[in-house]
Amino acid sequence: MNKKTEDEIERLLDNLSEALGIEYTMIIHYPRLVNILKDKETRELASKLGTDSLRHVDIVAKTIKELGREPNWSFEPFPDEIDFVRIFQEQLRSEELALKLHRQNAAIAPSLSLRETFRNVANDEENHIEIVRNILSRLTQHATSY
Ligand SMILES: [Fe+2]
Repeated sequence: MNKKTEDEIERLLDNLSEALGIEYTMIIHYPRLVNILKDKETRELASKLGTDSLRHVDIVAKTIKELGREPNWSFEPFPDEIDFVRIFQEQLRSEELALKLHRQNAAIAPSLSLRETFRNVANDEENHIEIVRNILSRLTQHATSY
């Protein structure tokens, strides 16, 4: 393997580890979030983020293993205070970061099929950004019903 390829694999692995932390945190928190959200449509939108994260975690963890590293299963703690607007603002930043990471992954992955895989994951993240924006606008429009 030449130096450039080695560096790219290292960078890919770092990106994947960071993405794993983001997606794993979402998986751990979304059942509780969905449980305490009162509005049905907002719950469904949050559920979609959770189920997509499950799929992404599988893809990311499998790729980390195939590239020779052990996935690090760590997640951020659930917020002490339930402030949905703050929680989803934070989620928006996570989705934006995931999009950036997966776009880079799609550019540097060592095979065409992995590039395609991460292009698709990046497309999901674009969709998640829209979903989270939608949730945030619902939260601010119907502030009292949450
Ligand atoms: Fe996402």
